[in-house]
Amino acid sequence: MNKKPKHVAIIMDGNGRWAQKKGKNRTIGHKRGAKVVKEIVEEATKNQIEFLTLFAFSTDNWSRPEDEVNLLMKLLVGSLKKEFKRIIDNNIRLCSVGNFNTLPDLVKEELMFVIEKTKINTGMVLTLALNYGGKEEIIDALKAITAKVKNSIISPENIDESTLIEHLYTRNLPPVDLLIRTSGEERISNFLLWHIAHAELYFTKTLWPDFKKKDLEKALLNYSKRERRFGKTSEQINV
Ligand code: IPE
Ligand code: IPE
Ligand code: MG
Repeated sequence: MNKKPKHVAIIMDGNGRWAQKKGKNRTIGHKRGAKVVKEIVEEATKNQIEFLTLFAFSTDNWSRPEDEVNLLMKLLVGSLKKEFKRIIDNNIRLCSVGNFNTLPDLVKEELMFVIEKTKINTGMVLTLALNYGGKEEIIDALKAITAKVKNSIISPENIDESTLIEHLYTRNLPPVDLLIRTSGEERISNFLLWHIAHAELYFTKTLWPDFKKKDLEKALLNYSKRERRFGKTSEQINV
């Protein structure tokens, strides 16, 4: 059996369709989705996952109706407030990746507060990808690197993979081992482009509000049976 994934990333998709299928407003789906986040974070901790990264809001999601965007931001602030004690009790360290500066002030304040208060925690690193876009992340890294080249802090011939990694928002995260996407869509939607280079992909038709602890267990079991070869042959792996 393969080891447990060290870094699990999830594209939590399908809130809107879940609500619409029930003849309800998309809002209801997002609210239910927030509850599921709580359950899955707890389950990931129990499974000794070291890094859990959740796609909460993409740079593309600003194009949604203003009401929906506002609700998502409000839900986020509410969840951070409500779950703060549980995060502390579970020794979780909260981090965020994405463009922090253009988030609403209330979100920035609450995020900063929880990140600061949990930075000494030694348990699971829970990263929220918020106002996150994988292409934007790489462009921002390139801008930072070129500025350093211009100021002779970095010489171009020394640029390698680690130079780029050090300038990504996700610089403190290891590569993703298992990427889960719910709702039946089989696409990446600009999530963690660099860090998923060798990730195992797991797609499930289950909509995020229906994603239960047992669904995470199923994904972890599925991962455990896969052979990760990283370009090598099966024989080389199994010596
Ligand atoms: C995921 O569910 C939540 C966010 C993107 C914030 P969706 O809102 O994308 O749900 P569907 O895809 O419309 O069903
Ligand atoms: C991806 O879901 C973003 C999040 C889960 C936060 P979307 O629903 O926004 O992605 P697309 O539009 O189906 O690609
Ligand atoms: Mg969606």
